[in-house]
Amino acid sequence: MSGARAGTAVTVRVPAKVNVQLAVGAARPDGFHDLANVFLAVGLYDEVTAAPAEELRITCTGPDADQVPLDCSNLAARAAVLLAERFGREPRVHLHIDKDIPVAGGMAGGSADAAGALVACDALWGTGASRAELLELCAELGSDVPFSLVGGAALGTGRGELLEPLEVGGDFWWVFAAAEGGLSTPAVYREFDRLTAATAVPAPAAAPALLEAMRGGDAVALAGALANDLQPAALSLFPSLAHTLAAGVEAGALAAIVSGSGPTTAFLVKDEGAGRTVAEALRAGAHCRTARVTSSPAPGAALVPRVS
Ligand code: C5P
Repeated sequence: MSGARAGTAVTVRVPAKVNVQLAVGAARPDGFHDLANVFLAVGLYDEVTAAPAEELRITCTGPDADQVPLDCSNLAARAAVLLAERFGREPRVHLHIDKDIPVAGGMAGGSADAAGALVACDALWGTGASRAELLELCAELGSDVPFSLVGGAALGTGRGELLEPLEVGGDFWWVFAAAEGGLSTPAVYREFDRLTAATAVPAPAAAPALLEAMRGGDAVALAGALANDLQPAALSLFPSLAHTLAAGVEAGALAAIVSGSGPTTAFLVKDEGAGRTVAEALRAGAHCRTARVTSSPAPGAALVPRVS
């Protein structure tokens, strides 16, 4: 991908995601789980800016910035190093993350930063990686990273990295409530394994009714089909999420679900006005940190044009 003059700072905007269906299979020998993961990109964004520097450096601003690691464990840093290695160069870049996606919230914020860093460094360095090469690097970085690159809506199979685009027939409105604290994705999968140890976990499959609701842009039908197999595990580790889910439904949400591995909760609402009502009720309650109203689908990682 290209589109910027090599050498000048480049900014890329990348969306968060919600899983409208997250069907989880049994643990595989490699420790991952086979998924049928229906991703929908939503209008909360991180912006990743890549600028020339003497050495790899990361900075971060935004409401949750103090929770973001600024060393080489940061997924955006790992993305820059991986791209540099693949194209035989040094990762001399300053990555700045302007963070609006809740950290450790189950909304793929770290994955968004990785996809953003790849696209930004590719443009900054003029490496000219193809879309297929970028998607392959994304999959190496994490199961959700390819979707952060493509955005829109997609069915992710394998460990979530094999994507098939899905049609969405209209906008869906959401409220996202960020919880006080985070949940570790591996810990939630381990809890899933513990809770399902005595049962035969079926092979994961996307529900036809859910795909039809997305195609038709039918929020009521989608509300009836939302499903997250990780929700019992997230609730087991973070029991107060049950109160948040109930409070959103009481305030008029069509449906409530834990977003991915949590602890962010997602509320599907009829329209923007209903979203504002639900968000206000959630903010007034004791259990969530912030509540944001936004719509979907949102586009994938994209360069932000420079104003000069
Ligand atoms: O791929 P990613 O690094 O985002 O995954 C984080 C962790 O989530 C993995 O180490 C694994 O514990 C768990 N995971 C899983 N099955 C998947 C995706 C993630 O068990 N399909």
